Amino acid sequence: MAIRKIVYEGDELLRKKSKPVKDFDDDLDELLDDMRETMHANDGMGLAAVQVGVLRRVVIVEANGMFVELINPEIVKVEGEDIDTEGCLSVPGFNDKVKRPYRVTVKAFDRYGYPFEITGEKYFARCVCHEVDHLDGVLYIDKSENKSKYKRKGK
Ligand code: NI
Repeated sequence: MAIRKIVYEGDELLRKKSKPVKDFDDDLDELLDDMRETMHANDGMGLAAVQVGVLRRVVIVEANGMFVELINPEIVKVEGEDIDTEGCLSVPGFNDKVKRPYRVTVKAFDRYGYPFEITGEKYFARCVCHEVDHLDGVLYIDKSENKSKYKRKGK
């Protein structure tokens, strides 16, 4: 396992759409293991593959005492509303409030290629939405309450 370099806001890569995973192979295992190590090293609650420079639809989420790996995730149901503070490892030094669903059901594949579905609330739901947005080139600062206050470091 290895800690990979985080891609920061301002890098065009973060605005690209990630491609579906087709091969559930050793490279995917390695990517997932590295993503987990990288997330832990940075005290994150979630990470999308694009944040370590890989444009594939792979995310990990660790919230509410659950750790999940979601390959080709698809949010199939959202319920309720929740407003809370969010941050992103790719947007250092900024936090802001974002409105998200309170409960989310997501369909995905595990690292072995088996389909599954999981439902989670509050932070888990928030993290899933945030990470799935990354796969479509969307950052939370695009939709947060005080987005006009965001200034990229060195900008
Ligand atoms: Ni993020």
